[in-house]
Amino acid sequence: MLKGRHLIEPGNLSIEELEGLFDLAEDIIASPAKYSEVCRGKVLATLFFEPSTRTRLSFEAAMQRLGGSTLGFADPGASSTTKGESLVDTIRTVSCYADAIAMRNPKEGAALLASQVSEVPIINAGDGGHHHPTQTITDLLTIRAIKGKTQGLTIGLCGDLKFGRTVHSLAKAMSRYPRNRFVLISPPELEIPDYIVNRVFKPAGVQFTQVRRLEEAIGDLDILYMTRVQKERFFNEQDYVRLKDSYILDAEKMRLARADLTVLHPLPRVNEIATEVDSDPRAAYFRQVKYGMYARMALISSLLGVSGWEGKKSAGGKKK
Ligand code: NCD
Repeated sequence: MLKGRHLIEPGNLSIEELEGLFDLAEDIIASPAKYSEVCRGKVLATLFFEPSTRTRLSFEAAMQRLGGSTLGFADPGASSTTKGESLVDTIRTVSCYADAIAMRNPKEGAALLASQVSEVPIINAGDGGHHHPTQTITDLLTIRAIKGKTQGLTIGLCGDLKFGRTVHSLAKAMSRYPRNRFVLISPPELEIPDYIVNRVFKPAGVQFTQVRRLEEAIGDLDILYMTRVQKERFFNEQDYVRLKDSYILDAEKMRLARADLTVLHPLPRVNEIATEVDSDPRAAYFRQVKYGMYARMALISSLLGVSGWEGKKSAGGKKK
């Protein structure tokens, strides 16, 4: 039962709960009319202390398609943060107005702190370079829909593995499914943090290799997860300029890949995927955007306890 819970990082949901969300999302995709009023009278706040296009708008679209409404801000400059109000006071205030809060903040741990004072569910929509669990639910739903499974896959994570919170959350979630293998493709300066290697991969016995060149790895992959170099998390401009063009996926590199590769990207893209790749049937990043809205519809309606979903019925009529 997800009603009333917070979602701060992927580990907050069990595998069964995740699978339940994917089943619900698939039911919403199949029968949207059934869900178009379930959040009538409910309010979702979206508090974005950092820029966003997809995540904030997909939360808002999701809530509106469930019949609910939204309020919030997309720019902390327009909130009392500029007057010196603390995050804790902002959350205490907004939790008097809303039934759930989706928030993004540049500081790691901000969503966890918010969950400690909020009266209503907090959904972490990104806390600094730490986690981004609703992107992960999106990614897994997309992978399940396209590959028909979330296990036994070879997943290439490419680009800024150090600061990319979507990478950290996806690595954590995919490590919980059997026989997934990672190929970590990054420059030395942008390698995945040690805590993912030591506290996620190693304890779970997950196989991983590190490579520097995308060309070397692309032919082995089931999934290639491209990421943007996270400019806003660099301490100096020179390092960013030096590393920003480390990987560019283009038609030539796609020729080295398998016919059943799936290319994902949380977006926004800067230049790490050439636009010529967009028309390749293996490019799935815009389909992924759509799955993101359905994933958030499933999540919001579950946290508010209004989905009416009782789980997928098996052939014997029993709940899954
Ligand atoms: C990502 C994020 O904000 O971490 N974007 C998103 O939510 N879809 C990835 C990024 O900004 O590079």
